[in-house]
Amino acid sequence: MSWRLDDVLPKDTVIDFSRRILSDAITGTEAIGCLSAEEKLMLNQIRSNSYAHMFLFLEEYAVALAAHRAGLELHENPTHMRALLRFTEEEIKHQQLFSRFTSTFARGFKVAPALLDNQVQVARAIMTKSNLGVLIFNLHMELMTQQHYVETIRDNEREKLDPLFCNLLKHHWLEEAQHTRLDFLEAQKIIAKEPETVAAAMAEYAELLQALRGTLNAQLQLDLQTLEKAAGRTFTEAERNELFTAQERSYIWSFIGMGMKAPLFLSRLRALSPLAEQRVLELAPQYYCN
Ligand SMILES: [Fe+2]
Ligand SMILES: [Fe+2]
Repeated sequence: MSWRLDDVLPKDTVIDFSRRILSDAITGTEAIGCLSAEEKLMLNQIRSNSYAHMFLFLEEYAVALAAHRAGLELHENPTHMRALLRFTEEEIKHQQLFSRFTSTFARGFKVAPALLDNQVQVARAIMTKSNLGVLIFNLHMELMTQQHYVETIRDNEREKLDPLFCNLLKHHWLEEAQHTRLDFLEAQKIIAKEPETVAAAMAEYAELLQALRGTLNAQLQLDLQTLEKAAGRTFTEAERNELFTAQERSYIWSFIGMGMKAPLFLSRLRALSPLAEQRVLELAPQYYCN
């Protein structure tokens, strides 16, 4: 059963800023020595808001991909076309959900958070790759969503996170779990027709991860500006280095490493082509997957 935006995040929602929003396993803020307890909490909240924004940002290409694949089924298989149109509609709904969350956050947080705004340009660049390359990148993103939920949110007793955001991620993940099945079938369709394209698609997947790394670093620079404003102090060079190094690692691990390491991602790739899984295992060490 599909959910509605108002069921998950009513328009008049107020965020509780007295607690962490995402698990420290995703935001990596607790171990930063140069921050006070209050600043660590603020950075956790800034990172959580950016996390929501990165999904809005990344779903821009997911909408383009699903709409394109649906168009290919015109006059072909009506069942596949309906499933892909529904997938497209859900991804737009997810974008609206994350956008509503970042607006809700901005209304209650101390300062206006700085967020990247070049999602259309990034989506267009991603869509210049082959459909198979983008489908594999998308499978990574979707199964990473699942990994985040299972590893850090479902057993949330210990951290006592904000239940509002946990519920939002649960609803997102429930629909992403359906999408992974469709993406897998779409990838299978392409490989059945053109098995020789797997190697090139995996090279594109590797390029997309590198591009994602650049986007995450750009958002991280903005996060640190937001933190300085919220904390009301300018970091020294040494503090900035500590913050940047720790947070870069955390961003890359949570968005890239955790996706590559997700058992379901590896098993789906293996089912598509052993070469695809092998390529991910080769790439993994550079994204802290040791
Ligand atoms: Fe989504
Ligand atoms: Fe999706």
